[in-house]
Amino acid sequence: MDDKITKPRCHIPWQQMVIDSDGTVVPCCYWSAYGNVNPPCGNLNKQSLLEIWNSDVYRNLRDNMAKGDLEKAGCSKCLAIQQGVGLDLRYDIDSDSEEPVSTEYTKNMRKLKQEIGEGKSVLKSLPTVISLTPSHVCNYRCIHCYQDSTREVSLQRKDAVAEILSLIPVLVRIVAGGGEPFIIPLWKEFLKSSDLTINPYLNFATSTNASIISDEILSSLNKFKTLALNVSFDGATKEVYEKVRINGNFGNVVNNIDRLIEITNKKPNSFTSITMSVMKANIINIPELIRFAASRKLDFGLSPVLTMPIDQAINCFNNPVSEMKGWKEAIELSYNLFDELFQFKLNELNEASRIQYRNYITVLDKSIPWDILKKEHFLIEGKIDDSMNNAYKNQYGDNLIIAIFPYGGDKPQKCMYYAIPKGNTYSVYLPNGKYALGLYPRNVVPGYFPNWNITIYNGKVINDLYVKDNNNLFKKCLARFFK
Ligand SMILES: C[S@@+](CC[C@H](N)C(=O)[O-])C[C@H]1O[C@@H](n2cnc3c(N)ncnc32)[C@H](O)[C@@H]1O
Ligand code: SF4
Repeated sequence: MDDKITKPRCHIPWQQMVIDSDGTVVPCCYWSAYGNVNPPCGNLNKQSLLEIWNSDVYRNLRDNMAKGDLEKAGCSKCLAIQQGVGLDLRYDIDSDSEEPVSTEYTKNMRKLKQEIGEGKSVLKSLPTVISLTPSHVCNYRCIHCYQDSTREVSLQRKDAVAEILSLIPVLVRIVAGGGEPFIIPLWKEFLKSSDLTINPYLNFATSTNASIISDEILSSLNKFKTLALNVSFDGATKEVYEKVRINGNFGNVVNNIDRLIEITNKKPNSFTSITMSVMKANIINIPELIRFAASRKLDFGLSPVLTMPIDQAINCFNNPVSEMKGWKEAIELSYNLFDELFQFKLNELNEASRIQYRNYITVLDKSIPWDILKKEHFLIEGKIDDSMNNAYKNQYGDNLIIAIFPYGGDKPQKCMYYAIPKGNTYSVYLPNGKYALGLYPRNVVPGYFPNWNITIYNGKVINDLYVKDNNNLFKKCLARFFK
């Protein structure tokens, strides 16, 4: 490929559509997460796929990415860019030698390369990477899962799925999303019946809990030329794994990982990898994860839990001193183990890739607010207004959490502390200062709509002020999470 074509820092804007079960389309999974607050590109329940593909949001993203302006593109906080993950044009290079051009895949790819080279923002070439999450149905109930409040949602527009599947001949990659992809009927049917003669280059990718890997699934996976299989592995010991991955069986999953490795090891340019969503319940288990990955020569990823649920997030605390116990040592050991055990891998890589590979640990390390430990924290025991507490319990049940936002100047800043209500009381360790507090269902991202303020001076609460008027506003705001 010539230099012009590889120029954009990230090629996702020209290649990818990520479709969620409520019809929302975004270019990637970092678009509205990890501190990025970008609008969706469209909604498949209301618009056609190709209308969204050249929507204003995609065009703005392509224009600014082509210029290298990550801020205006909406990508300045992208975790993938921070982690240094390669975001090159994705395609099967064997298609370069297809002469005469006979597949839809190669025709479309050549058009796409030309359009990227010309800096086009309105594309005639079709999307080449589709990630589709038909629903959030799952056989697990992981303690951190952001999908808990949306298990029942699915695509409503009748023709939407057919529109997506009509792209199969030109797709470089199809990403089977979930819930648990291998129990979702659409993916089970797709795997069973897909005819790869219409696209011999199609790469099948998924992230799975690897609880159900039947012989039938394995033989369907085997049909694809290349596979990118990621297993979410939130604990490398039985105890930690089963504490996070509720309904999971550690031994069964390890066995299934080995079955997947057996298949991907036989296919060039294919892999099985493992990823840990790093949270309070498993952070000190990272060294075990690295040992596990190294013992099987597996690539691994670390994905921090940051915005929800706040009692598991690694940047939000009830009692930082006790909750962060052992974290520093675990991270230090992870760096050392990584350098020692992944020597085999590092030797194969150039300097840039070596740094990128280690970046998983570095980015995680940087996500932890270590400085918080330098402040003196005082035990604060408070009371929740009875009428508010009852109203929230009636509406959202018992699974409530108090999000605590330190003030910076006049305004509450991001949530850094939490408390679990016990009846109508709560306790939390806080430094002196002013805080806004709000009740939230545990399985949503807490926004800035707090219900009351407290001020702590010399380790004592000197002001406990309910912002009564906010309660109605707050309820309205919460309603949008459950519409
Ligand atoms: C939602 S799951 C769907 C696919 C499959 N069920 C699995 O577990 O891999 C996709 C990934 O999102 C991660 N995840 C779920 N909730 C998260 C959260 N609150 N923060 C960060 N990652 C989360 C999971 O651990 C998993 O790796
Ligand atoms: S296996 Fe995946 S989708 Fe299922 S509960 Fe766990 S993280 Fe969520």
